[in-house]
Amino acid sequence: MSENKRYNAELDGASFETLAVRAGQIRTDEHEHGEAMFLTSSYVFGSAQEAAAIFGGDEPGNVYTRYTNPTVRNFEQRLAALEGAEQCVATASGMSAIFSTILALLSPGDHIVSSRSIFGSTNVMFQKYVSKLGITVDYVSLTDVNEWEAAIKDNTKLFFLESPSNPMNEVGDLSALVKLAKSKNILVAVDNCFCTPALQQPLKYGVDVVIHSATKYIDGQGRCLGGAVLGCSELMEEVVGVLRSVGPTMSPFNAWVMLKGLETLNIRMKAHSEKALELAHWLKQQPAVLSVNYAGLEEHPQHELAIAQQKLFGGVLAFEVKGGQEAAWKVIDSTRMLSITANLGDAKTTITHPATTTHCRVAPEDRAKAGISDGLVRIACGLEDIEDIKRDLSFGLSRIS
Ligand SMILES: Cc1ncc(COP(=O)(O)O)c(C=O)c1O
Repeated sequence: MSENKRYNAELDGASFETLAVRAGQIRTDEHEHGEAMFLTSSYVFGSAQEAAAIFGGDEPGNVYTRYTNPTVRNFEQRLAALEGAEQCVATASGMSAIFSTILALLSPGDHIVSSRSIFGSTNVMFQKYVSKLGITVDYVSLTDVNEWEAAIKDNTKLFFLESPSNPMNEVGDLSALVKLAKSKNILVAVDNCFCTPALQQPLKYGVDVVIHSATKYIDGQGRCLGGAVLGCSELMEEVVGVLRSVGPTMSPFNAWVMLKGLETLNIRMKAHSEKALELAHWLKQQPAVLSVNYAGLEEHPQHELAIAQQKLFGGVLAFEVKGGQEAAWKVIDSTRMLSITANLGDAKTTITHPATTTHCRVAPEDRAKAGISDGLVRIACGLEDIEDIKRDLSFGLSRIS
């Protein structure tokens, strides 16, 4: 490239919105404006000697897309800039991000203290697969720091939590949990899927590892699966090692889609949050609704904490209807526009019945402890007009009140 021409953006001191659009892009000699997509599984070398040097780590360069790809790196650097992380490792899905973190940072004999209010598949992963590694897990209330303290054992290596939680919208006190963990040399991992860095940056609170299901808001339009793990380079190099030898890698195509998703993340999260807040207030007034779980409501037990920790309250809320599962299914089946699907973070509003979908593999007593009743319905507010969302929900709500 010509030395006195600037082809790449200089981003020193740039704000979140600017980094979301520009961070991580390195233009090729073609001087493309949009980010290039490198759909290649391997890379060629100029000579056998160069191949040996790059393979051996004596010279920088790409070897194989299972562990390095320029488009995936572009996505990783952009997300790292937004979370304020030293390093990001992209993965094939949110679940593989969680599993890679555990494989990388824990050993047989270690113990995890986890919030009880976690995504259903994470729960199954812990109980069925992480247990096979000789790692044990105990569950506590996300919101009661005393329970976390009481659950610590000599071999506790990790605190694991989602905040806000899926689907109940409980909020964990990141500062308090980090303080407790640091005093016992325990790592803290936060699944930041519901907030994304647009609303919450857990590393600023001293959290060690941030995990994402990029499938959700980072993509933002329900197209691709993806995940990410972020933190300091020392920890992330261990996660890179898992990718290299185990292979739960993000595809370059998905990385490109996620990269473009990051460009609109901030304005989308604002719109999702505004619509969810309005919907929560409206749902509260419906006679068929017993309760609404949304941290944006003043009566939510962690409302003040959510204000302090998050920029806005996010796009997901849950509400309980009178009449248990039959009534909840009636509300869902009476909609004509909302998508009946378990995904969230999409431009299209989604509606689901957690007890029989996302959390169906969680034991009924554990579901009850997490507050997921049979009458609970989860909404992930999309970007449609809020009046259309309300009208669609009112068809079913009027039939059960
Ligand atoms: C909070 C949370 N974490 C992790 C996951 C898993 O992500 P993925 O579907 O990308 O594997 C989900 C999926 O719904 C989720 O809601």
